[in-house]
Parts: sequence; C-alpha cells; structure tokens
Amino acid sequence: MLKNLQETVSWLRPQIPAETKIGIILGTGLGDLANNSTDKKEIPYETIPHFPVSTVEGHSGKLITGKLGGKPILAMQGRFHFYEGYDMKQVTYPVRVMQFLGFEYLFVSNAAGGMNSSFQIGDIMLIEDHINLFPEHPLRGKNLPEFGVRFPDMSETYNLSLRKLATKIASGNNIKLQFGTYVGTQGPTFETPAEYYYFKVIGGDAVGMSTVPEVIVAHHGGLKVLAFSIITDLGVLGKIVEVSHEEVQEAAKIAQPKMAFIMEEVIKQL
Ligand code: HPA
Repeated sequence: MLKNLQETVSWLRPQIPAETKIGIILGTGLGDLANNSTDKKEIPYETIPHFPVSTVEGHSGKLITGKLGGKPILAMQGRFHFYEGYDMKQVTYPVRVMQFLGFEYLFVSNAAGGMNSSFQIGDIMLIEDHINLFPEHPLRGKNLPEFGVRFPDMSETYNLSLRKLATKIASGNNIKLQFGTYVGTQGPTFETPAEYYYFKVIGGDAVGMSTVPEVIVAHHGGLKVLAFSIITDLGVLGKIVEVSHEEVQEAAKIAQPKMAFIMEEVIKQL
C-alpha cells in the first residue's frame, strides 16, 4: 500500500501546484463546485496509477485542480462508495493520497436523508459529528506509523474552528444552516421507516452512504475536516415518501449553490 501510494503521489505531484493544501470531495449531485474554480485542469481517475475507478451513475470520476476562493484546491468529482464493492482501503485511497501530498484540509459534501423533524428537503447540514455504522473500518489491519496513530482520538473529528467559520459565513449571508450528526451506513438500500427511526433514536440527524470512511482516514492522517450534508429526502415519520437516486441528485443540485458559496468563502478566509 505504501509503495502504491508513493507511486501515485510521484505521478500526481508534477500536475498539482505545490502550494495546494485543500482537498475537496464532492457528493452526489454536488459536482458543480469544481466548475466555479479557475485555471481548471482535469485528471481522469483511470489515468492515475493505483487509483480506483468510479462506476456509479452521477459520479463522473476525475480529479480537478484549480483555484477556488483564490487558493489552489484539488477536488474529487466522484467518490468511491463501499456499496459499489470497493473495500475500505480503496474507498479512502484518495484521502491517503491527499495526506501524502501534504494537504492540511479536507472539505466533504454528501447527499443525505434527514431524520431530524426540523429539517426540510434542500437544507444544508453542517456535520458536527458522526456515527460509524459501516461493517468494515477503514483503519482495520496493520497500522503504518506514516499514516497516523493506532488508536486515533475522535473527540473533535470535524474541526471546530472550521465549523465556527462556516457558521459565521452562513449567518452573515442569510443562508440557513442546520447542524447535526451524520450516520454513515453501507447502503445501497435507502432506509426503511423503522431504520430511519432507529438512526434518530441513536442520535443521528441525517443518514447517508459515504463520508464517514473518508473523514476517519483524513482525521487519522492529520487533515482538518469540514463536511456538509444536503438533505435530499426526509426520514421523519409521517413525512416518509418513496425516494430514488434521481430525486436525490435533483434535490442536491438545487441546494448546491448555497453550499458552494459557504465552502468558497471558508477557503477565502483560511
Ligand atoms: N439514506 C441514505 N443515503 C441517502 C439518503 C437516505 O435517505 N438520501 C441520500 N442519500
């Protein structure tokens, strides 16, 4: 794994401006943020040595370099989900690459179902914490000291200063922000009503099929994390209706500009 990573990093290094410190993972229906960036260059996943290749509809599968909020960024358009059949080392491989490129920040977005009864479709939730319900842990197995410590502390996985900055930006620009805990599950089924209720009872506000593995690895690797969920459907008793991937993509697209604005402003003010 270390050798593969070193090969990926030496291949990517010349294509990424040396001052790049910010990685971004764009979720379902949220790929447009990278289009706001200037000096854009695209690197398709299939051209990168040892990189997994994305398969799911709505995920285009490329790295994008460019400038956002005046700073160089590297964005992933399309991520690797556990439900696609990748193992956790593959799901989180790009985050290790960012760590080995010397990045300091990881910004993450996803589409999620909302269990919190005050949430509405189209809301943006700033992730304050998570509950990991994936059946495999991304740090399972031998721990390489180059990656991080064996038993990582998780008391502030989502960086508090970044959260404060995002909150200030949202309120200063009249953007409604929700706050809560994201439950990460393997999918690919959406939840039954009983499952949404269970996730609410255990302390979740939103549920989705991504983010948690990448965030764990980023935090393990010392990156500061800021993450948002776009609430694309509701898992609130009495408000549960049928949901499809297309509806999730559509709802995410509508909320996307507001989330992109917050992310860009945070980057400006880093
Ligand atoms: N559940 C799980 N993942 C999701 C959902 C959901 O309701 N909406 C978008 N991604």
